[in-house]
Amino acid sequence: MRVTFTVNGRRTEADDVWEGESLLYVLRERLGLPGSKNACEQGECGSCTVYLDGATVCACLVAAGQAQGRDVRTVEGLAAGERLAPVQQAFLDAGAVQCGFCTPGLLVQAHALLAATPRPSDADIREALSGNLCRCTGYEKIMDAVRLAAGRRAGAETDPAGAEGAS
Ligand code: FES
Ligand code: FES
Repeated sequence: MRVTFTVNGRRTEADDVWEGESLLYVLRERLGLPGSKNACEQGECGSCTVYLDGATVCACLVAAGQAQGRDVRTVEGLAAGERLAPVQQAFLDAGAVQCGFCTPGLLVQAHALLAATPRPSDADIREALSGNLCRCTGYEKIMDAVRLAAGRRAGAETDPAGAEGAS
């Protein structure tokens, strides 16, 4: 079947999609968007997190056909051209970028958190990221990164010249 949907702002078609194919497979293998990672393929790790119509989902659990006519935003779509999203920059600045498996999903989920809750508590951050597993870290730098992005956003709100935002 053909799936027609919007991916990172572009109308996109994927042909010859099998009924059991996941959205993750289509993004990675058919559309050349490898940012969303396939780590567990069971909805357990969050590495494949994408936006589907503005809500975050595990792309490995979504059938590609379910994306028909809908809007998908992947980690590749967070940046505005060459300009990183504030949460991406904060992950870099806080040293929270570790392996390539967990980081993309953490970025999308943190981006969604900050869009919905611009000044999250530590409990909010932990709750939001609870579905994103990293087997290697104590999560502290990830917490620091989200706090940094939120703090910069708050600073931008009080500084008309500030350029940071959650989107
Ligand atoms: S690859 Fe989808 S949740 Fe792990
Ligand atoms: S799984 Fe990514 S740094 Fe541990």
